Amino acid sequence: MAGLVPTPLHVAIVMDGNGRWASKRFLPRIAGHKQGVDALKLIVRACPSRGISVLTVFAFSSENWNRPAAEVSGLMDILVLALSKEVPKLQRDGVQIRFVGARDNLSARVKKGLEDAEAATANNSALTLNVCFNYGGRWDIVFAAAKLADAGTLITEKSLSGALALAHCGDPDLLIRTGNEKRLSNFLLWQVAYAELYFSALLWPDFDESELDSALLEFRSRERRFGKTSAQISGNVASDA
Ligand code: IPE
Ligand code: IPE
Ligand code: MG
Repeated sequence: MAGLVPTPLHVAIVMDGNGRWASKRFLPRIAGHKQGVDALKLIVRACPSRGISVLTVFAFSSENWNRPAAEVSGLMDILVLALSKEVPKLQRDGVQIRFVGARDNLSARVKKGLEDAEAATANNSALTLNVCFNYGGRWDIVFAAAKLADAGTLITEKSLSGALALAHCGDPDLLIRTGNEKRLSNFLLWQVAYAELYFSALLWPDFDESELDSALLEFRSRERRFGKTSAQISGNVASDA
């Protein structure tokens, strides 16, 4: 697989199915979230050798606050613990971690965890790992538009794109959703305008390198036309033909 992907890729993943993974084993949902962290560690390590330079994952949505309080606080604990354990390994592997999402309603402990991890890994360049946490696509667009309006900047596709949370790394090429659901659930609504979509039946804790490779294989077989004709894309006609 390594070396077969010609260009650096931006892959986005909706990591769904942790709760069902746990329920199938008669475990509490939180056990599924813990196992989900292990799956993410595996995939982060797999990215550079597959030509992936940016990995953007959906870890906690704006709407996930509506879950039972014990699950929400369990997720916060898992995040803080995972960061304290994993940041040294991200450093070793040259991974820059960035958190994407609102910060104002996070606890001081969680906020500090995010900020410390970002500061510690800021100069790494082997892989950019964007963790969408307390993130919603609608929040992203409204926040960006409000920023531009405040600054008196004209709102255009270019200025809005540049004000969105992922402006530092461009749009995803491939969006994977695990857990057998076929919806976006308010993830990157603007940025996935031309992403290729791949839906995996695997629950996120079961997702591994081989399923990632299946997604990449499928991605490579797609023709991305961006509104043009197939002949234009394959270079068989002049662009004005
Ligand atoms: C995804 O798994 C993780 C979060 C949304 C935090 P879920 O917790 O949604 O798992 P299912 O979809 O209930 O199985
Ligand atoms: C999307 O999964 C959010 C994350 C994976 C973090 P959800 O489980 O929250 O999505 P819905 O509720 O099934 O649409
Ligand atoms: Mg879910």
